[in-house]
Amino acid sequence: MATHQEIAGVSDEDLVNRMISSHTDRFDDVFWTFFQEQVEPNLTDPPIMVDLGCGPGLLLRDLRQRCANAILHGIDVTKAMIDYANNKVEYQGEKPQYSILDVANDDLPFSAESVDLVSMVAVMHVLSEPLPVLEKIQKVLKPGGVFLLQDWIRTSLPQYLERMAGNVPPEQMEATRSAMFKLFPSHNKYTTDDWLWVLEQGGFRVVEHKQLRSPHFCTFVCTSKG
Ligand SMILES: C[S@@+](CC[C@H](N)C(=O)[O-])C[C@H]1O[C@@H](n2cnc3c(N)ncnc32)[C@H](O)[C@@H]1O
Repeated sequence: MATHQEIAGVSDEDLVNRMISSHTDRFDDVFWTFFQEQVEPNLTDPPIMVDLGCGPGLLLRDLRQRCANAILHGIDVTKAMIDYANNKVEYQGEKPQYSILDVANDDLPFSAESVDLVSMVAVMHVLSEPLPVLEKIQKVLKPGGVFLLQDWIRTSLPQYLERMAGNVPPEQMEATRSAMFKLFPSHNKYTTDDWLWVLEQGGFRVVEHKQLRSPHFCTFVCTSKG
């Protein structure tokens, strides 16, 4: 299974920087209003929240800011991401607990039915098999807990390139387009209906799904069917 970095032909540090530079745009007021309406009512106190494929830890930083007593965990397979999250990010309160793990091959280090929220942002599409990972998530979620999946949805090549490379300075255009051509197949793997089917097959009930900011990205709020 190729990593994001291998597909795009970028270094771990490049991916760290891309995730950081796009974070504020991706987690804007529209996202947090949606989160407040759709996710927060399902959390117990204090909530246990896990970000799988947490990258540089900025979502957990924001969750700490919103919820001072949350118990936060971040998991990522890339050491450079965890190093950044552990050593470079400033948290308003207790730092999340970070672990280097491969969600496809390792067990999740949480007890059964212990977690209020599992979040996964722009990670699942790169895994060759989503169903075994969904099974692991099901196992650790509390009854009534939420799996918040945010991931790429299929779109046309011109729309994709326009969105991803349309605003870069002319001198960066060629390199950016080249990276985007390489990423296009993995970002265009699933339609919204494919995701809904995968989640249903994985034992989840999708209570809401919405394209919050981009025609290429969808947010799914799921609870366990069982
Ligand atoms: C596109 S980045 C998204 C990072 C972060 N979720 C964000 O939105 O800023 C994908 C992340 O998933 C991680 N990842 C990919 N495959 C993984 C796996 N099998 N187990 C754990 N993390 C994984 C990568 O290391 C990378 O940090």
